[in-house]
Amino acid sequence: MKKLVILISGRGSNMEAVVRACARERWPAQVAAVIASRPDAAGLGFAASQGIATAVVDHRQYPDREAFDAALAAQIDSFAPDLVLLAGFMRVLTAGFVDRYAGRMLNIHPSLLPSFPGLKTHQQALDAGVRLHGASVHFVTSQLDHGPIVAQAAVPVLAGDDAATLAARVLAAEHILYPRAVRWFVEGRLAPDGLRVAVTPPEPQWLFAETTSYAGEGA
Ligand code: GRF
Repeated sequence: MKKLVILISGRGSNMEAVVRACARERWPAQVAAVIASRPDAAGLGFAASQGIATAVVDHRQYPDREAFDAALAAQIDSFAPDLVLLAGFMRVLTAGFVDRYAGRMLNIHPSLLPSFPGLKTHQQALDAGVRLHGASVHFVTSQLDHGPIVAQAAVPVLAGDDAATLAARVLAAEHILYPRAVRWFVEGRLAPDGLRVAVTPPEPQWLFAETTSYAGEGA
């Protein structure tokens, strides 16, 4: 059994998708804990309702990034995880912290990396005029939003979109993509080689959002 620790800062819908898939698909894994960077993170309630241990490492209680990351690492390590998942975790991590979990920490980022790292990715996509947007699951390295990509999901940008409608379309794809990628890790099927990650035996490392409901641009 692989042990997972999931870090959240808010809603936690990606965490919930992973927890549900782990149970439903009987992964050889257990979500050992959900740790939040803020006490009001809504996802803590779902985790507790599933009998998962929860903890809060409140970033406002620490004078700097180093102190916060040290406290967070101590909390994570108390659960001895095989894999750490960032799921809407809104803190930038120090290089020391990232190195500690090298090769065993994944993140989901709401864009088709390397386009649109950082924040407000949906508005960035609208402003750039791209017609495809999406999400990426990647190994975390000290270069923000630039680690080896495990899987990507693409969704269309439609004529009437604003950041909220686009975010909702991407989020629905994230909920399929992240559990799929985490499952591959848990099954020992991921082999990073530089910035490329192979899955063995092979499976598509991409998905396209269902567009069957498409009713025409501007509809
Ligand atoms: C997701 O869009 C994720 O990709 C990004 O922040 C959002 C978190 O949503 N990093 P949730 O907390 O998983 O619902």
